[in-house]
Amino acid sequence: RRGLPRGKVSFIHSRLVHLPSEVSVTSMTTREVLATRVTEALNNLFPDEESPDPQLTAATRPEFGDYQSNAALSLAKKKKMNPLQVAEEIAKHTKTDDICEQPQVAPPGFVNFTLKKEYVALLLQKMLADPQRLGIAPREKKQRVLVDFSSPNIAKEMHVGHLRSTIIGDCICRVLEFLGHDVLRINHVGDWGTQFGMLIAYLKQVKPDALIGSTTTSLGDLVEFYKAAKKKFDEDSEFQETARREVVALQAGDESSVRAWSFLCEQSRKEFQQIYDMLDVKLTERGESFYNEWLGEVCKELEDSGVAVRDEGALCIFVGGHTGRQGKAQPLIVRKSDGGFNYATTDMAAIRYRVKEDKADRILYITDAGQALHFSQVFEAAKRMGYAKPETKLEHVPFGLVQSEGGKKFKTRQGETVKLKDLLQEAVRRAEEDFRNRLQAEGREESEEYIKRVAHVIGIGAVKYADLKNNRTSNYQFSYTKMLSLQGNTAPYMLYAFARIQGIYRKGDIDLNQGHQAENVQFILDDPTELSLAKMLLQLEEMLFLLERDLKPNILCDYMFELSQRFNQFYENCPVLKAETVDLRTSRLALCKLTANTLALCLHLLGIPTLERI
Ligand code: ARG
Repeated sequence: RRGLPRGKVSFIHSRLVHLPSEVSVTSMTTREVLATRVTEALNNLFPDEESPDPQLTAATRPEFGDYQSNAALSLAKKKKMNPLQVAEEIAKHTKTDDICEQPQVAPPGFVNFTLKKEYVALLLQKMLADPQRLGIAPREKKQRVLVDFSSPNIAKEMHVGHLRSTIIGDCICRVLEFLGHDVLRINHVGDWGTQFGMLIAYLKQVKPDALIGSTTTSLGDLVEFYKAAKKKFDEDSEFQETARREVVALQAGDESSVRAWSFLCEQSRKEFQQIYDMLDVKLTERGESFYNEWLGEVCKELEDSGVAVRDEGALCIFVGGHTGRQGKAQPLIVRKSDGGFNYATTDMAAIRYRVKEDKADRILYITDAGQALHFSQVFEAAKRMGYAKPETKLEHVPFGLVQSEGGKKFKTRQGETVKLKDLLQEAVRRAEEDFRNRLQAEGREESEEYIKRVAHVIGIGAVKYADLKNNRTSNYQFSYTKMLSLQGNTAPYMLYAFARIQGIYRKGDIDLNQGHQAENVQFILDDPTELSLAKMLLQLEEMLFLLERDLKPNILCDYMFELSQRFNQFYENCPVLKAETVDLRTSRLALCKLTANTLALCLHLLGIPTLERI
């Protein structure tokens, strides 16, 4: 149970408002409290309706109050009644006078609820008393969520698509972790497949010392190595034969082939790790090869159960009527006619493992939208086979492409794919340049160490934020200028807002941990901008619940942006340090503190640390 200590609450009670028992004893959000109340009214009004839906949402416009119920509309239709009248009845029978003003009815049949100032003030106190979690309790029902993200491929370039997956995946993990779920962060690295035949064969020819365990051998640029191997493969038929034999040898567990394979994986792993370190993202690697030992068994189970059938020598699952180009049914192939397994086989084995061994309740796959068909087929097949239980949630979390400023594919001027490390370093370099210019213009000084830290946080933060603030399903344009701007919905703007607001609160010199206990702060919300800021602060929890369900990080960015706008309006209208009375000053300083803490928490959930000065 979270909330204020008992004794203090009753003091506030008597002075301000009577709280219904569920508000102080459970971790229900205001929306949930209101929904319960409307449901009670519906049960009384329509006793024959089984579990009526209160249809309670945050209001879509300020003139509709804070929350609205649309229940009257559908009920009236069903019962052939006048919706406005039904709405009137709901308004009359919903007990809300402890937390809301008199509910208002609006045509064609909405019931609008506006929170009482006193109630808002009380909730703010609850937030203030809990600076780490801001009054948001972990979910009582915790789930085991497996997030499959990042997942680059060995010996190939980790590209901007993988960067998006890494950034979005990490944010989703952070939010789910914050809400109290058990999260498994899995890197499904592409470390298996026929391309390894070619790579190993080539490695044996050009770097034989790599195979005798020489730790100093480095391949240099792995992508160049891949290209060279591919070139040889395409040109030399004898080499093709060698490569094919290598695939067979590797699958049979031949020692030297396995050693060559490990060497290649190790080289790639080092490169991937550099990116993860820059981004400060943690993942557990469990590549495709992890599932090798079960692929045969999985195919047998699929065939025995009749879920998969043989078609032209291949073992196929016909799912969902997905049709290919000529309207021909496009099956999921789990074993090719030459006996080889593929990407889909591994994914079937992975679901089986994740449900059976990891006990996952929810599995998320963060990849580009191009893999939507693959996942819908795999999910359907896994459900049919019983690898996923009926209640297991399998979700593909797709995202759009990253385009360069010209709206083209992400390439350097020379037509090469941009290297992720260079892309991130360039953001940091530009952030440093901006910061040095700012310091010079403002005559400020900072240590070299701090400058480097600021550059890193802003540069990497800007790349992350620019990615997360877009609706993930849309394509977005990568622009250093836009993402590094101090204006607009950007990381530097948010970091700046945090530092500035925190500065105001610090100047106020009230220490809420001493003397001014949080519960002694009386929030005064008489100015409309104070109330509007306060209500926005209270919405964080509901935003996080939305994100938990829809897995769209832009919800959080939009929220922060709106919050900072409302803060600016408040700050323009309401003197803080020079407020007329001590109580008002304390209340406003506490609003500043809550805003700063909220921004810090949101940034943290996006994977961006805060800075004291920028
Ligand atoms: N390695 C794949 C790629 O680069 C992504 C893997 C996604 N995860 C999965 N379980 N299939 O496209």
